[in-house]
Amino acid sequence: MTGHKAHARAWLVAALLGAVSISTMASAETTSSPPGAPGTADPDIWPAYTYPVPTRPEHEARISDLITRMTVEEKIGQLVQADLCCVTPADVKKYKLGSILVGGNSGPNGNDLSPAPDWLKAADDFYLASVDRSDGGAGVPIIWGTDAVHGHSNIIGATIFPHNIGLGAMRDPALIEKIGAVTAKEIRVTGQEWTFAPTVAVPQDFRWGRAYEGYSSNPELVASYVGAMVRGLQGPPTGDNLLAGPYVIASTKHFLADGGTDKGVDQGDSSISEEALRDIHGVPYGPAIAEGVSTVMVSFSSWQGVKMTGNHSLVTGVLKDRMDFGGFVVSDWNAHGQVAGCTNEVCPQALMAGVDMYMAPDTWKPIYEDLLARAKAGTVPMARIDEAVARILRVKARLGLFDAGKPSDRPFSGQYELLGAPEHRAVAREAVRKSLVLLKNQGVLPLAPGKRLLVAGDGADDIARQSGGWTLSWQGTGIDNSHFPGATSIWTGFKQAVEAGGGSAVLSPDGSYADKPDAAVVVFGETPYAEFQGDRAALVLDPELTAPYATMKKLQAQGIPVIAVMITGRPLYVNPALNAADAFVVAWLPGSEGAGVADVLVGDGRGKPRHDFTGTLPADWPRAAQMADGVLFPYGFGLDYSASATPWTALPELDASEVGGDSRTWFAAGNPASRWSLWVAGDGPELETRITTQPAEAFGGRMRVTAENYRVQEGARRFAVAGGTTSVQLGNLDPVDVARETNGDVMLLVTMRVWDAPDAVRIGAIGPSSEGFAAVTLPETEDYVRYGIPLKCLRDAGADVARLTRPFVLETQGKADYAIAEVRLGSDAEQVLPCG
Ligand code: BGC
Ligand code: BGC
Repeated sequence: MTGHKAHARAWLVAALLGAVSISTMASAETTSSPPGAPGTADPDIWPAYTYPVPTRPEHEARISDLITRMTVEEKIGQLVQADLCCVTPADVKKYKLGSILVGGNSGPNGNDLSPAPDWLKAADDFYLASVDRSDGGAGVPIIWGTDAVHGHSNIIGATIFPHNIGLGAMRDPALIEKIGAVTAKEIRVTGQEWTFAPTVAVPQDFRWGRAYEGYSSNPELVASYVGAMVRGLQGPPTGDNLLAGPYVIASTKHFLADGGTDKGVDQGDSSISEEALRDIHGVPYGPAIAEGVSTVMVSFSSWQGVKMTGNHSLVTGVLKDRMDFGGFVVSDWNAHGQVAGCTNEVCPQALMAGVDMYMAPDTWKPIYEDLLARAKAGTVPMARIDEAVARILRVKARLGLFDAGKPSDRPFSGQYELLGAPEHRAVAREAVRKSLVLLKNQGVLPLAPGKRLLVAGDGADDIARQSGGWTLSWQGTGIDNSHFPGATSIWTGFKQAVEAGGGSAVLSPDGSYADKPDAAVVVFGETPYAEFQGDRAALVLDPELTAPYATMKKLQAQGIPVIAVMITGRPLYVNPALNAADAFVVAWLPGSEGAGVADVLVGDGRGKPRHDFTGTLPADWPRAAQMADGVLFPYGFGLDYSASATPWTALPELDASEVGGDSRTWFAAGNPASRWSLWVAGDGPELETRITTQPAEAFGGRMRVTAENYRVQEGARRFAVAGGTTSVQLGNLDPVDVARETNGDVMLLVTMRVWDAPDAVRIGAIGPSSEGFAAVTLPETEDYVRYGIPLKCLRDAGADVARLTRPFVLETQGKADYAIAEVRLGSDAEQVLPCG
């Protein structure tokens, strides 16, 4: 029986404090389910591990001394983590918070693109506030966590590594450890101590928009990497005083089965058996614990209907007790609010389930106040609070945080030349080379360097696109090449390689040329996305991204050898490209060192490769839009230069109508998406009218609906209103649930143009028994504008975002003339409308 160590540590603290034994701790705020109930794990069937981080008497003495001296306010403060969006150093001083984080969209001074020195300055400011003892407090230093998930990826100029799915293709744990080490060192330059990485998800359904954050669908492959990454980040498990060396603390996430939700729905439910939970998603936690990972982040998702964040049997029973995890458990971004009986503001259940630190980005104050009130009233036991505090302090002690001084005084701080240092970029470039997977080669690769090369495709010269989500911004959107100093696009890599060999290269996204090239590379694929915005109903490229197929066909018809290079976070149905290209290379999301692609694709000039392909698929590649339709290339497939030309039989190509939709787009190119319908409504006794054709008239001619060209013929619907109150509405056959998007700062985006501005406009959402509207201003414009209204505004105005029948309503008063081209969810607004 292991778990003894965790118990022993808790006992030690409890005994020193004269507190009750933790095993007698009543689950005051939980309703523990009986063993065998859905969502209740049996820890005894899980593997047991031993947490290898030595218990150090000097740390334990310090921890118990602190716990004795800390007030209950100070203890509760340690349990709470606030986001930079919503907290100041003065708050940290007053509330004695244990941690801050920077979410994907936040940064110092309210700017997620703040330059590196601002990060270090902010780290100092928060640190100094935390250790201020002028009011007689214990002054426990704060830790700052960041999503350095593929390099120090929130920082301009940092080395950006391939996302995990590409690293999975390499099968190279030694390089993983180097990547961890480089990432840790770059984090330390800007003063943070903690990365929310590695993601150890084992994605089973690639419709999940976070699948690329996982290394592979194969638990063994994921497990073979986890220990190496944790070691690279934290150093050896026996290490102490980590901040004296080039280290940070890691966080394996998201516990558990984030990659196992039904249909790949982000934050969804996994209905699998406990054996599958253990044997697929549980496997990577063994090596993580064996390497002494300091923190584990709990998943937003649920298992058999029970949210992980409230699952005592898994978080405490399996992770802490059975697996002997000796670090601390952090929850995910307001994930506590999804636990049954909880809200974002109130959730003692998470603490009682075993969460030690609440990630309460904008809700830290109510969470703090509620926990404090309960601690004082005794409805959450002090023994549980002390145990959580002790775990957090123990990790801080191992970091050496108590004696490290302010961030800017620590080793590596402010050495900005380390961000994107040549030796770091070399590691990333090696990873790019090793992650490439060759699916087809009709003898056209390697390319001869001394010739004329055309580089086409909309992805060829776009570093943001090749970096994917979680890069500088949350969804990886809103940035361009200018935000990547020192980085190299895939195009630049080809240009350098070909010119070095005496040839010439031309960039031409649409594939047009003046001088006929000897070969053409066409770079295409996905555009950046992250959490839930990347969820798809089918494994297909979004239709607007498929234009390069025609470019490939055109070039091929002109007798030019075509090499397709795909930027993607996941295997997708791309048969038209596989057919049209003579060679096909999957580059995944390579990051800042795009030149690694040409390293492998451009040869040495004597007909030999400079580097061979070594990457193989980290997951099955689909034959059609759904995995259920069959596998085209299995897990482990990948050609190299020794393979003879691939015999090719044309693959079947699907009709556009067969490929399924994108659940985030409700209205596009002037038409409602499948299962959606367009309505117009008036006030008073007038009935609402469903618009199926145009031109159409409603309300006795008061409103006229026509088609308007935008991007494509009839790409928008135009509404001319003579006067009065009318609205345009979108409805779905089923009630729509956008609660998780609302929680994540997603907006309702509407692309529209106004010719005649109405007297008043409201945008809102309606449910069976709720509605929420925001008054907005829509001026007349010369062109279409993509407006965004935060879903939070509609929720705060009263809409039940979990159940909407008309999730989009645009209501006008008075004479008006406007057109709507698209309505969808997203974060890439051109103009954000204030809540009003
Ligand atoms: C994500 C985590 C991330 C956290 C902080 C959450 O929404 O699920 O992976 O670490 O936000 O940005
Ligand atoms: C933050 C992310 C976070 C997400 C949670 C976003 O607003 O920027 O860091 O992961 O919300 O849903």
